[in-house]
Amino acid sequence: MALHILILAAGEGKRMLSARPKLLHPCAGAPLIAHAVRAACGLDADSIHVVVGPDDDALRALLGDYPVEFAVQERPRGTADAVAAGCTAIAAASGNLLVLNGDCPGVLTSTLQSLVAASAGVDAMVLSVRPEERSGYGRLLRNDDGALVSIVEASDATPEHDAVPEVNGGVYCFDLEALRDALDTVGTDNIQAERYLTGVFAILAAAGATVGAMPHADANEVHGVNSRAELARAEALLRRRTLDRLMASGVTVRDPATTYVDVDVNVGADSTLHPGVILEGSTVVGAGCDILSRVRVTNSRIDDRVTILDGTIIEESIVETGATLGPYARLRPGSEIGAGAKVGNFVETKATKLGAGSKAGHLTYLGNARIGKNVNIGAGTITCNYDGVEKHETVIDDGAFIGSNTALVAPVRVGKNAYVGAGSTITEDVPDGSLALGRGRQVNKDDWADNKQPTSDSGQ
Ligand code: UD1
Ligand code: CA
Repeated sequence: MALHILILAAGEGKRMLSARPKLLHPCAGAPLIAHAVRAACGLDADSIHVVVGPDDDALRALLGDYPVEFAVQERPRGTADAVAAGCTAIAAASGNLLVLNGDCPGVLTSTLQSLVAASAGVDAMVLSVRPEERSGYGRLLRNDDGALVSIVEASDATPEHDAVPEVNGGVYCFDLEALRDALDTVGTDNIQAERYLTGVFAILAAAGATVGAMPHADANEVHGVNSRAELARAEALLRRRTLDRLMASGVTVRDPATTYVDVDVNVGADSTLHPGVILEGSTVVGAGCDILSRVRVTNSRIDDRVTILDGTIIEESIVETGATLGPYARLRPGSEIGAGAKVGNFVETKATKLGAGSKAGHLTYLGNARIGKNVNIGAGTITCNYDGVEKHETVIDDGAFIGSNTALVAPVRVGKNAYVGAGSTITEDVPDGSLALGRGRQVNKDDWADNKQPTSDSGQ
């Protein structure tokens, strides 16, 4: 039987109190909506439509890489109206329609599959959960025989309804034909004057159609995000899942409570994440790495056996095998640190390649630099890469030695195996193998201290 999917994403998200649309809020490394879309993409469906508002360009753009189409709900008049808009987009379709709220990022493909399987021969099936905290959820009402007869929204619930433990998880599977007829008759007779999708169940049950509820044990999985507090809760769930996945593949996570890893991050076996580590975006960490406390890595590639000491920040960079970084190093976008290289305390790099075995141990800025292999960069070295208008490149060839407190005024090149004396300001290229000294000469004045004149305001 054909299977079509609608993901509802056209609501206003008022409870977030945000200028940003609710479903675009980031959640564990992807926008909220992306999680439900991914879960749906795991099914072998004939079509997936995301129901959006007329001005949701950002949302459409963000889902551009997913195999989904869009249906437009002109105004957010309720979830039944959103589903009706979606049904218009698949007007010729028949078979099953899986509907899910876009705001439940935890939902798993396997759960969607089970719901579809359980819906064979049923006109309307809803996923039923029993969360401890039920506020905001529609209550599933059953008759004396235990058959589902209607769903009452939280805002319309009486104290008696409030006591009902079974609620609507926001995932449904319908027979398209039965749904279309029922949708037409859903009214707005409720406290919010909206057309509720949940109203379809009473209509179908009264008409003698088969309606049902599939119990699902894990209420957290379909926890909907309506507020900032719920966003934090959903993020914690996704984070914990990611850490469980990493631990199951041989990664040591010393303190899962303080380790923040986005859903798309991968870490190799025998790597250790110490407390307070944050791995973001598309970051990939190799095997046997040691990542110490309060390190944040964003959209970067870290190869095997890399050690990243405390407090280091890495963005959009590559770190090759066996390198050591930090403590308190900062790799800005475009940094490439070669195998076995060392980037130490308070060293900042940007658009810079540091070759294999090279070292920049302390208090250094390397920007727009191409540095070869086995180069030693002394403490306090600065590439002066910016002339106020443009950036210029510094090239340091293999085996060069840059003395401490050197300023390299770009564009400039230091040749192979060349030396630069400490405290130099280098404005001209240094030939291979030579020593460059670019500093004022020291002058010693003998017995100066004994012969100096007291100053007039010294008070003595
Ligand atoms: C909904 C259910 C409730 C269920 C809960 C589970 C209804 C009426 N109620 O409540 O029974 O327990 O989810 O989380 O469906 N949307 C649109 N267009 C609209 C309104 C909403 O596309 O006009 C979208 C929203 O973007 C959201 C989803 O539909 O992704 C659900 O809407 P929301 O307002 O969050 O419904 P709840 O009040 O959470
Ligand atoms: Ca919701």
